[in-house]
Amino acid sequence: MSPFSLPLFSLLILFITMITGTTQPYKATDYFFLDCGSSSTNTYSQKWDRDNKDNFFPYSTTRILKTTSFTYTFLVTKGPKFLRLYFNPDTYSSRNPNPPFFSVSSNGYSLLTNFSASLTTSFLAKTHSSQVIPYFVKEFLIHVNNTQILNVTFTPSPNSYAFINAIEVASMPENLYFNAKTPKYINQLKGPVIGNNTALENIYRLNMGGGQISGCNDTGMFRSWDPDNNYIYGPGTTQVYDTPIRYTMDTPNYTAPELVYQTQRSMGKRANKYNLTWILPVDSGFYYMLRLHFCNIIPRYTEIGQVVFTIFINNQTAEQDADLFYWTQGSGYPVYKDYIVFVNDLDGHQSRQDLWLAMHPSPYKHQYADAYLNGLEVFKLSKDHNLSSPNPKLSLGNLQQSSIIEGNNKTPLYAIIIGVCGILVLLSIVLIVLLQKRGVKHHNTTCDQQSQAQISSDATLPSNRCRRFTLQEVKTATNEFNDNCCIGGGGFGKVYKGYMDNATTTVAVKRLNLSSSQGLREFITEILLLSILRHVHLVSMIGYCEDDGEMVLVYEYMAHGTLQEHLYNTNKPPLSWKRRLDICIGAAKGLHYLHSCEKRAIIHRDVKSTNILLDENWVAKVSDFGLSKLGSKDPLKAHVSTAVKGSFGYIDPEYCRTKQLTEKSDVYSFGVVLFEVLCARPAVIQCARDEQVSLAEWAKSCNRKGTLQEIIDPKLRGEIAPGCLRKFGKVASSCLHEEGRERPAMEEVVWGLQFALELQEWS
Ligand SMILES: *[C@@H]1O[C@H](CO)[C@@H](O)[C@H](O)[C@H]1NC(C)=O
Ligand SMILES: *[C@@H]1O[C@H](CO)[C@@H](O)[C@H](O)[C@H]1NC(C)=O
Ligand SMILES: *[C@@H]1O[C@H](CO)[C@@H](O)[C@H](O)[C@H]1NC(C)=O
Ligand SMILES: *[C@@H]1O[C@H](CO)[C@@H](O)[C@H](O)[C@H]1NC(C)=O
Ligand SMILES: *[C@@H]1O[C@H](CO)[C@@H](O)[C@H](O)[C@H]1NC(C)=O
Ligand SMILES: *[C@@H]1O[C@H](CO)[C@@H](O)[C@H](O)[C@H]1NC(C)=O
Ligand SMILES: *[C@@H]1O[C@H](CO)[C@@H](O)[C@H](O)[C@H]1NC(C)=O
Ligand SMILES: *[C@@H]1O[C@H](CO)[C@@H](O)[C@H](O)[C@H]1NC(C)=O
Ligand SMILES: *[C@@H]1O[C@H](CO)[C@@H](O)[C@H](O)[C@H]1NC(C)=O
Repeated sequence: MSPFSLPLFSLLILFITMITGTTQPYKATDYFFLDCGSSSTNTYSQKWDRDNKDNFFPYSTTRILKTTSFTYTFLVTKGPKFLRLYFNPDTYSSRNPNPPFFSVSSNGYSLLTNFSASLTTSFLAKTHSSQVIPYFVKEFLIHVNNTQILNVTFTPSPNSYAFINAIEVASMPENLYFNAKTPKYINQLKGPVIGNNTALENIYRLNMGGGQISGCNDTGMFRSWDPDNNYIYGPGTTQVYDTPIRYTMDTPNYTAPELVYQTQRSMGKRANKYNLTWILPVDSGFYYMLRLHFCNIIPRYTEIGQVVFTIFINNQTAEQDADLFYWTQGSGYPVYKDYIVFVNDLDGHQSRQDLWLAMHPSPYKHQYADAYLNGLEVFKLSKDHNLSSPNPKLSLGNLQQSSIIEGNNKTPLYAIIIGVCGILVLLSIVLIVLLQKRGVKHHNTTCDQQSQAQISSDATLPSNRCRRFTLQEVKTATNEFNDNCCIGGGGFGKVYKGYMDNATTTVAVKRLNLSSSQGLREFITEILLLSILRHVHLVSMIGYCEDDGEMVLVYEYMAHGTLQEHLYNTNKPPLSWKRRLDICIGAAKGLHYLHSCEKRAIIHRDVKSTNILLDENWVAKVSDFGLSKLGSKDPLKAHVSTAVKGSFGYIDPEYCRTKQLTEKSDVYSFGVVLFEVLCARPAVIQCARDEQVSLAEWAKSCNRKGTLQEIIDPKLRGEIAPGCLRKFGKVASSCLHEEGRERPAMEEVVWGLQFALELQEWS
């Protein structure tokens, strides 16, 4: 029995809205990075381990470890998702001599069975002849169906325990890997198709002839690409050219980064004498999909017929005459080809076998004898919804030795998890619907007693203050939900701009993307209940439509969109400092109104710069408060101690620790927004230098050191009066105090900001 046991267990899901500052070809609609069981001090000032080649990995002490099975639930949109599991066996090896064995399943797929992370690292270290593999990532690709849930369940083997350091979930383009172009089958005419009922595991993702490409430099899906040095067999010349890469409809710009296509292995001299070969060990008894990425970058090859080569997979001809100029429009045009091959289980034990990929110049004489490859991805296909294979065969002697090496190399790791912070992220509306589906009762306390009475006495929808529209009216308003009217969207569905009442009123129409109508009535009731809150600094709901299976909410239209889109990653003109102060004051007033409800404070729970909207007169209005939980009691008790809602980078660390939700959690998030406004940068920049990843930590420390001036938005240089900046920095930092009770109330924040404004105006 393991000495570890966890009295407290809950979920920690961080939803990262800000991924990076740079524009990437693909922007994941769903992105979660769950740092499992982070240390007790601060959830998001975690250090990114810079010594690791991929600095996307969180601080190594963090993990969740349990002797009973546990499930993480991610609420996502339907469609294909990456599920990445980060393991760092080092986190327990110095404490426990018994390596854990456990199974992992997700949405009906067995991903790992009686899996040992330490056997896997030892094996990796051995096969890569490198001293230490500090951690590794298992990447799975799962198609999430209409349930819009991605469950990940960890089940310890008997008398063992399970652990996980981090989980990442990211969406991907619909037809990139699933339901993609028809592959070629090796040795057979027909075979499995990679559709919605297949799960994949990525086994290799290689950048031929190039270096490591970390997740941050991928096309927005955080795939990491490894060099092929460990797999190339025999000679092979590295070619690097900065030929411009021209993506096409067939090979869109998210397919693979330019860096992959700009480097390649080719054959060089003596090409007729050997095969350009890679040897890739895989588990036998499964189908594999090989995706070969090609791009001609060598300037002397310019025409069709000059370089033609044959591709062999497992000694079978996969492609007789590969000619890039025949396949594409010319140099610099990337293309990929998919092949599916079955790897026979020869000994009946699903042992590992080598998958051979080889290339040779075509036997018919061509102008140049050469062959080349730029990138390679290898995926294992699920068989009967199962992807697991036995652990690599290694003796325990091997294992202990490798643990000792690891132990020397790493800082000692003490902490056993005592309590784990619970954060469940709600992709806006979807969650409430799901809660309702599970039959969870909501607390419907509001400021407005009257409306509550009205609703409880009669379960029909209130109509006096909130209009009910017909579907036809909504369709007319949005030109049949025309995509040209679409002004935004998210997990809940799309938002359209529309015109109502003979085009006299401009509205924002949120069309919910729901697969089932169960619980909708309760859902609407709650939304409407909340919509009765009226304040000049809150976005108000005009009406709704529930008709013919459609669920639509109609809000007043905010001409200037979100606060965030005026701050960074934007072409819009910068806001003046005074306008920014006015906006902050307005938003603070809106939050103060929510907090000062007579009965029980309404806690927003998701204060961030995208939830502060601006109308045509630049009046700030807090939005999405309809999705807040009322009061501090949480209904998600059933299988999670507490569900904490919030966005990564904005979440109150104290809330994470204590799970006590108070108004001060909103104050914390608002402090982050204040610094966002001042510095015009996202709350989190994954790829930034360690100390700058989290804006809250970075700005607080600059304020302490008196260097705030250096990190303010360059567009504000010279505009802010020194006294005003001091006051503003002080207010924002006080909001970010570690302890909630030390933080000011929202009302004090309003005063503080108004004072800062006066200091600005006097100057
Ligand atoms: C990727 O391609 C899309 C559509 O072709 C285009 O809109 C987008 O700007 C491109 N992104 C980058 C970073 O090149
Ligand atoms: C697979 O899922 C996609 C949505 O992600 C859907 O459009 C498509 O129709 C599904 N295909 C099948 C065969 O069910
Ligand atoms: C959707 O996925 C869930 C969970 O894996 C499964 O139980 C359900 O049968 C699936 N539904 C469909 C229509 O495939
Ligand atoms: C799990 O695997 C280990 C080693 O590979 C083996 O000793 C053990 O019996 C397995 N347990 C189960 C339940 O299969
Ligand atoms: C996901 O897990 C939750 C809790 O364990 C369970 O209630 C739900 O049915 C699961 N959903 C799916 C689609 O597997
Ligand atoms: C991304 O690529 C750039 C340019 O090649 C490089 O300077 C940078 O270090 C890379 N970033 C990461 C996180 O690997
Ligand atoms: C392919 O051929 C090589 C020798 O040319 C051999 O060593 C290897 O085992 C073969 N691979 C397969 C999968 O048959
Ligand atoms: C290249 O590989 C193919 C398929 O395995 C094999 O038939 C051929 O003999 C090899 N050629 C050389 C030169 O090794
Ligand atoms: C999946 O495959 C593994 C290895 O073959 C096996 O041990 C396990 O029982 C399978 N799981 C299921 C659910 O069939």
